[in-house]
Amino acid sequence: MSPSLTVSRIAAQQGSVLRELRTASLREAPYAFGETLADTLLVDPASFDETAALHAHSPTLATFLLYTEDHPCGLVHAYIEDGDEARAFVAALWVAPAVRHLRGGELLVNVASQWLAEQGASEAHAWIAEENRTAVRFYERLGFGPIGDRRTMPANEEEAKQLYVRHMPHADQS
Ligand SMILES: CC(C)(COP(=O)(O)OP(=O)(O)OC[C@H]1O[C@@H](n2cnc3c(N)ncnc32)[C@H](O)[C@@H]1OP(=O)(O)O)[C@@H](O)C(=O)NCCC(=O)NCCS
Repeated sequence: MSPSLTVSRIAAQQGSVLRELRTASLREAPYAFGETLADTLLVDPASFDETAALHAHSPTLATFLLYTEDHPCGLVHAYIEDGDEARAFVAALWVAPAVRHLRGGELLVNVASQWLAEQGASEAHAWIAEENRTAVRFYERLGFGPIGDRRTMPANEEEAKQLYVRHMPHADQS
């Protein structure tokens, strides 16, 4: 039987859960992200507490956690850039291998997108490493498409990432 998956916004006291999931994602899927595991392990654990406290309540930054029963097994960040354009992003998406292909990734991206729409965003953006074909297929299946902005990956200058975007369906209906 499939485990039931749920998503909720991080709570202020979940800094250690955030650190655990973030280091697990960088260890398991280093090709997918801008930061490296080595850099993240050097970060003071207290700064994850500060990030969790901020992402629990900020109107422009949030983290959503995926659970199977009571066990955290994935995450996504959602944020709105500073500045006039105020573009909305989902980032750092990761689902633990044991619970992949169960629509946990889709649930995370949809909950994060819904939250961004509630903050006023009409589109959600995501940077995707070109070599990460799984993520490209995953995001395309959710309706994201490339918009022609291509940059080198900060952690590996031989690799490139591309910017993808999806319109918020419900924002179009207003
Ligand atoms: C990308 C990721 C978040 C998808 O999570 P998930 O919970 O398995 O996703 P869902 O179950 O919601 O959707 C799965 C769909 O994504 C695509 N997909 C996921 N894994 C795939 C794979 N190994 N090969 C091909 N397509 C894949 C398929 O369309 C798949 O549909 P299917 O299960 O019916 O075949 C997960 O594979 C992951 O954490 N990867 C490592 C980190 C990463 O790449 N993050 C994205 C950074 S941009």
